[in-house]
Amino acid sequence: MKITVFGAGYVGLVISTCFADLGNTVLGYDIDKEKIENLQKGILPIYEPGLKELVERNIRENRLSFTSDEKKAVRDSDIIFLCVGTPPRADGSAELKYIFSTAETIGKHTNGYKLVIDKSTVPVNTARQIKEKILQNQAQKTDVDVVSNPEFLREGQAIRDFMNPDRVIIGVDSEKAKQLMMQLYRPIERTGKPILFTTIQSAELIKHASNAMLATRISFMNELSHLCEKVGADIKEVAKGMGLDNRIGPRFLQAGAGYGGSCFPKDLQSLAATMKEHGIQSKILDAVHEVNESQKHSIIQKLKTLVPDLKDKKIAIWGLAFKPKTDDIREAPSIVLISHLLNEGAKITAFDPVASENIKSHFNNHTSLEFRNTPYEAIKDCHALVIMTEWDEFRALDLQAIKTILAEPNILDARNLYEPSEIRALGFNYKGIGR
Ligand code: UGA
Repeated sequence: MKITVFGAGYVGLVISTCFADLGNTVLGYDIDKEKIENLQKGILPIYEPGLKELVERNIRENRLSFTSDEKKAVRDSDIIFLCVGTPPRADGSAELKYIFSTAETIGKHTNGYKLVIDKSTVPVNTARQIKEKILQNQAQKTDVDVVSNPEFLREGQAIRDFMNPDRVIIGVDSEKAKQLMMQLYRPIERTGKPILFTTIQSAELIKHASNAMLATRISFMNELSHLCEKVGADIKEVAKGMGLDNRIGPRFLQAGAGYGGSCFPKDLQSLAATMKEHGIQSKILDAVHEVNESQKHSIIQKLKTLVPDLKDKKIAIWGLAFKPKTDDIREAPSIVLISHLLNEGAKITAFDPVASENIKSHFNNHTSLEFRNTPYEAIKDCHALVIMTEWDEFRALDLQAIKTILAEPNILDARNLYEPSEIRALGFNYKGIGR
């Protein structure tokens, strides 16, 4: 099938590449000409494991190409994915201007039937407005179907999530669109994964509600972790015991430094804003957000139990992105920690396998924030080590060596990587979360 993907950001790029890899001919469009020129040369704007190789292969094999010509992008394919950004506005609601201007572009250049598939995360009832915008702007009157096909990819595991999803959700209101969507997803359906057809409104809501539910689980566990510390329980054991109940399940029950990223914080606020528009005050979503913010700030309080006066102290941080295997630092808990540390006059040496450059420019090359090339170099002469993301490479390091390199054997493990009893037996002052 011939497909155009509007938006070469995180989702757009993964979708373009994966559909090309399934044998389709895919044209990726972005308004950012420089991004397109780079992509044509195989230079990617993001880090995602395995993506670069897949982009290069599909370009080489002529299934994937990129353009910044909007007319060509619309006219070349009858199937068009919308993967443009929907950033938060100041009041938490989603900014839809990029979605709607893309809808106008599609209308303007339409040369026949178009199936427009919305993958951008949007508030319920946006697909209906997208269709209206396309129809209002059509120079040539033709049929158009708009469907909602929300994306559930996780950064760091995006290709695997695309090829092997838990489910595919498709909101449709026409038989023709349903048939085309079934054809598009046949290679995924063959793997036995459920494809659920719903109304368009339900599909749009499933996306927001899923992220909000996952965030709720995390905030619940983070809140519970504080009680664990007071009463001598271990949050990891509690999570394991809870997760063995099939009704609960084991995933997304890890207490830590708080959730970050471009999705949970934004989608939660957007869903709350939609509820408000309809006269519903979501006490749950407000509390989930509040608990998450205070969890991020609680890390500094915990660090102070190890190093009470942070002025002129050297603090090492391992892991800077909002989670491992990505260089994405949006809403990363490390940003809150670093800001506090700099305010209190501490000196930071940090290590992250891929996110250092992003943090460096976020803090405008601050002189008290330095970066090192290995975890060991980062802890040299430090008064404490704080682990902020759970990269696998931090799990099996030489703890004896770490103890000698640190100026003081203080570890704050904000992702519960280590076993408290083992690490304390080695003579570390160790703090985890909820243990
Ligand atoms: C999330 C969803 O998991 C995807 O299904 C969805 O497609 C995506 O948002 C989106 O809307 O685009 P992502 O933001 O990439 O994916 O990251 P997650 O793996 O979900 O992690 C989110 C945050 O929660 C991270 O900061 C992570 O460290 C934290 N987390 C996750 C916990 O603190 N505890 C857990 O048990 C799990």
